[in-house]
Amino acid sequence: MGKNQWYKDKVFYQIWPRSFKDGNGDGMGDLLGVYEKLDYIKSLGCDGIWFSPLYPSPGVDCGYDISDYYDIAPEFGGMEAFKKVLDGAHQRGMKVIMDLVVNHTSTEHEWFKKSRQKIEPYTDYYIWRPAKPNGKLPNNWDSLFEGKAWAWDEVRGEYYMHLFAIEQADLNMDNPLVREEVKNILRFWLDMGVDGFREDVITFISKKEGLPDDHIMPASKGILYFNHGPHLHEYLEEFDRDVFSHYDCMTLAEAPMVTPKKALKYIDETNNRVLDMMIQFSTQEADCLFMDFNHIPFKLRKLKRAYSNWQNGLEGKGWNMLYIENHDHPRMVSRYGSEKYRVESAKMLAASYLFLKGTPFVYQGQEIGMSNWYPSDPEMYEDVQTRWQYFNVGTKKSPEKRLQRLWHGSRDSARTPVQWSGEENAGFTTGKPWFFVNENYVDVNVASQEQDEESVLNFYRKAIALRKELSCVKNGSYTEYNKASSALYTYSREDEKQKILVVCSFTEKEVPFRAPKGFDIDSARLILQNYPKAEGNIKAYEVRVYLWNK
Ligand code: GLC
Ligand code: CA
Repeated sequence: MGKNQWYKDKVFYQIWPRSFKDGNGDGMGDLLGVYEKLDYIKSLGCDGIWFSPLYPSPGVDCGYDISDYYDIAPEFGGMEAFKKVLDGAHQRGMKVIMDLVVNHTSTEHEWFKKSRQKIEPYTDYYIWRPAKPNGKLPNNWDSLFEGKAWAWDEVRGEYYMHLFAIEQADLNMDNPLVREEVKNILRFWLDMGVDGFREDVITFISKKEGLPDDHIMPASKGILYFNHGPHLHEYLEEFDRDVFSHYDCMTLAEAPMVTPKKALKYIDETNNRVLDMMIQFSTQEADCLFMDFNHIPFKLRKLKRAYSNWQNGLEGKGWNMLYIENHDHPRMVSRYGSEKYRVESAKMLAASYLFLKGTPFVYQGQEIGMSNWYPSDPEMYEDVQTRWQYFNVGTKKSPEKRLQRLWHGSRDSARTPVQWSGEENAGFTTGKPWFFVNENYVDVNVASQEQDEESVLNFYRKAIALRKELSCVKNGSYTEYNKASSALYTYSREDEKQKILVVCSFTEKEVPFRAPKGFDIDSARLILQNYPKAEGNIKAYEVRVYLWNK
């Protein structure tokens, strides 16, 4: 990572390019559309952008299957459009980070085409294994997206590993040539002026030697052997030493199943740090078991434990990445919030994480309180993982039950086009949108919220402005109160100048409010709320932020 820690003062906005904004009317979001909306992003108070992959790709996993790391896909406008966006962002004081997807490439990548023909030096770029004597798979690991983790390649007459879709072949990171390729990719984008990377499932890049069978996990077999594998730290250190440390850039690593203790192996600022931040998953697991498809009723206490674990666990050592939504999970209003109290709960959810310590990320559409999409037919789903889950998992259950499982679990719920206005196709495109638009766009859209002082959009603006204004939000201490409550999440942030108390209700029931000991509400200033009057009991999904200056 670079020497400067500018990322600690930023609020990032995540763009999932296909569904953000179509600039040329072909129905697909693109960089022309992003360029049009740079001022909008800036107006939120966001001063960083994370782009989900923009590279050329066959699109099996919506861009996470890359076929060329050195270009921008023509459907997004190509390199010229990217440079224009990069300049435009920089002119506005915004940083830009790219997605780095190097656990795997598309099987359409040149490296893979050569590797399957054993053309040097590409022969060992991927994880190839012969069939076992009886034709069996090399081991019993599962793919996270479809079936087993091995696919047979006719050309080479061997199996290759794919931890995700069949068309996403895992790179062999143990091969030094592959690591050199990664470093060249990094240098290429950093030299162009990109400010860092979000590193896709980077904790999967080092597989346990010998690729042993997994006799421990009942499902997702292999994950204990490929997540946080034996050489992960070493490879990340190499990338840091040879590339990142020479640039003023940031790194953010996606890290399934990571705990604060594990994270500190990589992000401890006082000891052997090789990354700036990690994306944890525990705050996404308060209404599901292990993955979003295994839906269970929402448990606030589980969520609070996760937040406090991370706030306390990294204190004084590492820096949190904060988020409630991204392109891999259904919308939060429909999960931890309430569609019935959409406006109230969207605002409450914003405040529940925007005042924590760390660098917040806002996912496109989250800032207007977009909610889940409920298609009537499983065929309407696009996502490779979702389709597998419908057609291959729990197939004995009724079609209704199976469809409902997708409503709660599918990533496509959060991938519908951003709702810009009440016009046709939500103002996303003048053409035919590549994907379905959520029907609620007539009520939920940016244009109408711009006109409304009390909208979710304007609440985000206020909350982000406050977070930048208050020194205690950046560096103050964190304390959680009333931990046993399954209705309220209450926390304070405090430094030598001031303290704030954030009270968030996660229920539609009214609940009595008692300020924690030492907080005299009468002498506080209420600086943020989502009801016209904040008094007496806490109302449905109410949020209050109180400030005391010292
Ligand atoms: C990450 C991405 C996800 C993608 C997967 C495989 O989890 O966020 O969208 O499908 O990696 O690249
Ligand atoms: Ca387009």
